[in-house]
Amino acid sequence: MIEQIKIRRPDDWHVHLRDGPMLALATPYTARQFARAIVMPNLAPPITTVAAAEAYRDRIKAAVPRAIDFTPLMTAYLTDEIDPDEIERGFRENVFTACKLYPAGATTNSAAGVTDIGKITRVLDRLQAIGMPLLVHGEVVSPDIDIFDREAVFLDTVLSPTMRDFPDLKVVLEHITTRDSVQFVEASGLNLAATITAHHLRIDRNAMFDGGIRPHAYCLPVAKRRLHREALRKAATSGNPKFFLGTDSAPHQKHEKESACGCAGIFSAPYALESYVQTFEEENALDRFEAFASEFGPRFYGLPLNEGTVTLKRCTGDVAETITESELCLVPFHAGETLRWQMD
Ligand code: NCD
Ligand code: ZN
Repeated sequence: MIEQIKIRRPDDWHVHLRDGPMLALATPYTARQFARAIVMPNLAPPITTVAAAEAYRDRIKAAVPRAIDFTPLMTAYLTDEIDPDEIERGFRENVFTACKLYPAGATTNSAAGVTDIGKITRVLDRLQAIGMPLLVHGEVVSPDIDIFDREAVFLDTVLSPTMRDFPDLKVVLEHITTRDSVQFVEASGLNLAATITAHHLRIDRNAMFDGGIRPHAYCLPVAKRRLHREALRKAATSGNPKFFLGTDSAPHQKHEKESACGCAGIFSAPYALESYVQTFEEENALDRFEAFASEFGPRFYGLPLNEGTVTLKRCTGDVAETITESELCLVPFHAGETLRWQMD
């Protein structure tokens, strides 16, 4: 039996670090596990300018413990009105790594997002021309579409025509949750990749209703049927370079999740690698974990692989029920469970 694995330092290709006291709490967890992270821009107000991204990047760096070397990779939040010149300038100045497309109303702080992809044709043209990745929250938001079908409908009605109209656009379909997305990505060119979260590899939609309503299993895109989870597990552990790690760790305060209208998001940063590695072990794919966590992401983004390593040991560890710091109280993913691996 393998007792420990040592891998090149990994990256998180999708994380929410928030701002203010939540940023101070969340950032060290991500920095402890990952060398770099693609930081989501869905603050209130969202990050739509180079100046705002630079200021946010400084606040993140200030929240990283001194002994840790961690690089936040910033993203621009696309709106109907955003100026392609501003995006290109941020990309050329190494402030923006990618652009994030939130369909308006799809998720937390997405009200200012794109109302119709046809409104950002000039932006997509520019991204394609300069080789800047477009990161996509792949759900349609229409009250007549069942929430469990939002991702599959997005593939047909938005992503498919977009990939046809912009054949060289680099796209990451983020936090995929369905077999449909796995197949779509597999069938597309090398310019389309996908991230997979730790939680979508472990929970299906039953987790939200396990003996009662379970707000801490609620995130967007919402977890789907078991068959979809199985397809995600196969994709993540397949060795296909189009699928790589992105936690979508999305902290919300406990009381904001345990509410009559609870927030979407799972705070997985504290034990993300431990969770992923357990899944890889269950799938007999420990030998493929390093590529998923540390190689496929940077290769897609055209960034160097990290130096240094992290070691995960087979050794049980209990996950706290809550994480509390000053006035904040959060429930991490796997709260109250025992995990089989621990970071050294
Ligand atoms: C994210 C958040 O809270 O910012 N929530 C989530 O459920 N994943 C937004 C997002 O990525 O959809
Ligand atoms: Zn997210």
